[in-house]
Amino acid sequence: MVRLQEVTPYLVLAVPLTFILITTLFFSLSSTTNPIFLPLPTSPAAAFPLRRRSPSGRPGECDIFSGEWVPDPRGPRYTNRTCWAIQEHQNCMKYGRPDDGFVKWRWKPEGCELPAFDPAQFLRLMRGKSVAFVGDSVARNQMQSLICLLSPVEYPEAIWNAPDQQSIRWRYAAHNFTLAIFWSPYLVRSAESDPVGPTNNGLFSMYLDELDEQWTNHIDEFDYVVVSAGHWFFRPLVFYESGRAVGCYMCLAKNLTDLTRYYGYRKAFRMAFKAINGRKGYRGVTILRTFAPSHFEGGMWNTGGRCDRTGPVRADEGVLRGAQLKLYTIQLEEFQKAEEAGRRRGRSYRLLDVTPAMLLRPDGHPSVYGHRPEERVKLYNDCVHWCLPGPIDAWNDLLLKMLEADR
Ligand SMILES: *[C@@H]1O[C@H](CO)[C@@H](O)[C@H](O)[C@H]1NC(C)=O
Ligand SMILES: *[C@@H]1O[C@H](CO)[C@@H](O)[C@H](O)[C@H]1NC(C)=O
Ligand SMILES: *[C@@H]1O[C@H](CO)[C@@H](O)[C@H](O)[C@H]1NC(C)=O
Repeated sequence: MVRLQEVTPYLVLAVPLTFILITTLFFSLSSTTNPIFLPLPTSPAAAFPLRRRSPSGRPGECDIFSGEWVPDPRGPRYTNRTCWAIQEHQNCMKYGRPDDGFVKWRWKPEGCELPAFDPAQFLRLMRGKSVAFVGDSVARNQMQSLICLLSPVEYPEAIWNAPDQQSIRWRYAAHNFTLAIFWSPYLVRSAESDPVGPTNNGLFSMYLDELDEQWTNHIDEFDYVVVSAGHWFFRPLVFYESGRAVGCYMCLAKNLTDLTRYYGYRKAFRMAFKAINGRKGYRGVTILRTFAPSHFEGGMWNTGGRCDRTGPVRADEGVLRGAQLKLYTIQLEEFQKAEEAGRRRGRSYRLLDVTPAMLLRPDGHPSVYGHRPEERVKLYNDCVHWCLPGPIDAWNDLLLKMLEADR
């Protein structure tokens, strides 16, 4: 089920205000002892090259997350014929996407090379181990990319399916490797309180101080847990704390204050990391996969916005702004706090910082090619998910590099 977000129109007045706020946040977080934020960026775009992080988290190594997309004549590593794990809506070639240039690029970190995913190496490294993705359909998108990248060596068998079919466990028998996805778009406990809602797109209740036990109760069983969240925070939400409604986002209820989506987003990550740090039996490495920007142009998902570009934009053209910048900043802040708190308890955290790379790929989404032209679907033009094969495959190139560095 793919029902997605509504992106609030970007208010002209909010631009300078947001910028001042973000700049202030960067200022207050910047310090020489801080590995994530190096001294102050002059603009949000400039924040990226100034951050230096290595796959292992150790200083002095190449930052695989800053770089550019360079032409790759080899083309995709799988197709919709060789891989069955491509979800319909992301099977862009099937639905008539006319250009295939978007699969002929590779991510080139500044100062080093990112090797193409080696499925045999991945499975060798992961023998006797397990990886869980926690999040929404973009997390699933990455898991499906991983299944396709691994497919030349082995296909998994589903060993467990949640009743709603949204959470799945896969087993790679020949390599004793377990892969799983836990569906948790809000990371905390949530429920659809009103299927219609004020914007005709569902109204969700988020219980900001309650764990989503459907994933938190299972993390002990995993060596790596890849956490992410994002696009579901563009929907109308009601926030609950101590069992009481304390406010909402875009819910249009007269008796509730609009606390903004950011309130819920920050609390959701804080609660998720608190659960991870507090879980006694958990010995795994927690990986935060950062926000993957959407690229609607000329409107939003429901007002005719599309993403028709056929190639990446240059590193200096990609600017993260508005809501997307704010969500990204919140993630990094909460990640950093969790990492510090976790270090005292022997917890390991890693950042899979895909945001700078994906910001440059407006060409990587299904746009109108996620379904047959005559089909009426909820997400008309999909500029949120990523075509398979496509630039999202680079997330797993990066993941493998991190797993390798982690040994
Ligand atoms: C794969 O993509 C081709 C176009 O390149 C399309 O004709 C075909 O129907 C697709 N096949 C499957 C199984 O998705
Ligand atoms: C598979 O991996 C698990 C976890 O490391 C281990 O306990 C088990 O013995 C392994 N099974 C086989 C058949 O190697
Ligand atoms: C707000 O009003 C709605 C009905 O209009 C009610 O169901 C809800 O309980 C109220 N919430 C609070 C926090 O008073």
